[in-house]
Amino acid sequence: MKVTEDLAELRSLRAAMNGVFGLVPTMGALHAGHASLVSRARAECRHVGASIFVNPSQFGPGEDFNNYPRTLEQDLALLESLGADLVWIPSPEMIYPPNFQSWITVEGVARPLEGASRPGHFRGVATIVVKLLNCFQPERAYFGQKDAQQLVVLRRMVQDLNFPVQVVACPTVREPDGLAISSRNVYLGPAEREAAPVLYRALSAAKEKYDTGERNAEVLRDTMRTIIRAEPLASEEYVSAADPETLNELQQIDGKVLLSLAVRIGRARLIDNILIEG
Ligand code: PAF
Repeated sequence: MKVTEDLAELRSLRAAMNGVFGLVPTMGALHAGHASLVSRARAECRHVGASIFVNPSQFGPGEDFNNYPRTLEQDLALLESLGADLVWIPSPEMIYPPNFQSWITVEGVARPLEGASRPGHFRGVATIVVKLLNCFQPERAYFGQKDAQQLVVLRRMVQDLNFPVQVVACPTVREPDGLAISSRNVYLGPAEREAAPVLYRALSAAKEKYDTGERNAEVLRDTMRTIIRAEPLASEEYVSAADPETLNELQQIDGKVLLSLAVRIGRARLIDNILIEG
């Protein structure tokens, strides 16, 4: 596995790799969710690349940029064990040189949900992902379904800007009690960790209503709200039952629906979702 911080070296290593190249962009602090992306890329591509960069521009003021877990040695060991070929660890100065002023803004689908709660977040995500696509030139790029809106935003961007890359969504990896695995789960104290599966319980209860025939989206949102509000350590930021492509809130469900929510538990802000394919 080749590891570099240098862009010129990255480009020349990449240029020597013929055949389908799969990229797994990450912010490090790698866990079983990331491992599933790398394994999928390994199974589907001739070469697998990963980036490790805690992207400051996707964190808002007062968010956890400074505290975001950084575990570089472990991350590299995991990537090596999973068979990655090429890892880029750019410096912040390389990604955002002085006088940087070219940002990517996706409009409609980036506005609700995470976009409303975290203004500027998707501008930061879209900009770094464009830079990574430009530098790695992958045929395929792998992202977790856990960040459902990120996937919708990136698919829109790739299509709108004619990037010749296939965006691949990989299923959310969960702890045995249902908690979606996330780098931010380290912020949970013991009691908060016990409370955290409430997100998946709420989503599962709404899905069960859907499975038994409920098609009123407000009933599904209410089901999620009631379960979150019954957990004293949890405070709801939003619950949503939206069209999975436009992310507009639904009233009546005719086909697919994306159930999603954001909840604060202690100092952790957790998100999760279930996509119902209809
Ligand atoms: O999903 C993430 O970890 C990040 O948003 C990404 C795609 C690596 C961009 O920084």
